[in-house]
Amino acid sequence: MKVLDFSTRAAMDEAAAEYVASILAEKPTAVLALPTGETPLGLYRRLATRQAKGTIDLHAARFFNLDEFEGKGLADPDSYASFLMANAFGPLAIGPERLRLLRGDAPDAEAECQAYDAAIAAAGGLDLAILGLGRNGHVAFNEPGDDWGLETHRVRLTESTRAAQSSLYRRAEDVPTHGLTMGVATVLRARKLLLLVCGRGKDEALKALLAGEADPARSVTALVSHPDLTVLRDLSSVAS
Ligand code: GLP
Repeated sequence: MKVLDFSTRAAMDEAAAEYVASILAEKPTAVLALPTGETPLGLYRRLATRQAKGTIDLHAARFFNLDEFEGKGLADPDSYASFLMANAFGPLAIGPERLRLLRGDAPDAEAECQAYDAAIAAAGGLDLAILGLGRNGHVAFNEPGDDWGLETHRVRLTESTRAAQSSLYRRAEDVPTHGLTMGVATVLRARKLLLLVCGRGKDEALKALLAGEADPARSVTALVSHPDLTVLRDLSSVAS
């Protein structure tokens, strides 16, 4: 595990953009998994700026997302897919032919999860999974105690996760009770992992990861076994 600390959010965002640029320079057809949340927004803005300047080209890359709320599809303004369209795929002008997003509104969630894993495999596997960190130590929607052997699957969201997501919804009770998520097994198969950590209340989860011991109560600690994990941490915001 490689851990890089930054004294400002902007410095972390820039390093993340540089990291993604280096992956694409090496392999323009790279397959990437992107996270939702506040954390990656600076990275997405920087990638869009670089693309506008012509210093990066994302047009041959392919994209998946990490997770989605059950019941929410691309047409729902409160879906993660909509969030990524607005903040990443739209500004980066990524066409639908290069996107495969989890369909939270699929009539059969299990079938959708299996089809999703099959699509990742058909794309040649993930070259890079970019990850954020939930306050309870989750990555994607792999909640405390979830089975790390699972690939993409349906999960029950904890109340703390639902509360943390309530800004996307008008009323806290409208936050879906379940989600669909790449499993820890799916994430660990990515050839490279980039974990971005910023925002308050994540100190304990991060300490657990840095301690290097797998703790089933915090799925982020499953990442310690990955051979190519880079952690970028914004020190100005992570203290709890
Ligand atoms: C949610 C998402 C995660 C994301 C996390 C952190 O739980 N399911 O994929 O990484 O929030 O969000 P933020 O970056 O807003 O702190």
